[in-house]
Amino acid sequence: MQIRNFKLKLLPLLSASLFATALFADGDPQLSTTAGSRLFDATAGEELYKASCQACHMPDGKGDNGAGFYPSLVNNVRLMSAKTTTEIVTNGLRGMPPFREYLTDEQIIEVVKYIRTNFGNNFKSPVTVADIPK
Ligand code: HEC
Repeated sequence: MQIRNFKLKLLPLLSASLFATALFADGDPQLSTTAGSRLFDATAGEELYKASCQACHMPDGKGDNGAGFYPSLVNNVRLMSAKTTTEIVTNGLRGMPPFREYLTDEQIIEVVKYIRTNFGNNFKSPVTVADIPK
């Protein structure tokens, strides 16, 4: 009885870790258009943040000030402007790479919406294709 219960609990755990291994098996998903194509199909802002931003800005959005300077996105008044935020993501900013070639317009909009309404930010003004610099 005990053994049986244990196996039942273990199975979903095992398949979950196999899935994780498969997901990350093809190398660094960051900024790589070929290896990342599956990840970059994601349209949900949260998934896009995880795939493209959290390596530098950290999962909690607080950034990092150790080996390099990665600004915190938490309670960040700079994100008040949909246009400024969208420009930074599209064209990059000094140490931050541009995402124009890695994300579609729709994905840029989704990830900008995500950071503007998470990490303590509550900027709900719309983000549109007009905010993306040409
Ligand atoms: C390779 C590391 C790296 C990645 C990946 C990265 N950023 Fe950045 N980001 C930076 C750095 C460094 C800065 C600071 C640039 C400066 O001011 O010199 C920055 C600045 C910003 C800022 C401006 C914050 C402020 O207070 O000035 C925003 C907004 C931002 N990033 C959003 C994002 C989003 C959204 C993504 C994912 C699509 C992302 N970043 C991916 C490194 C990164």
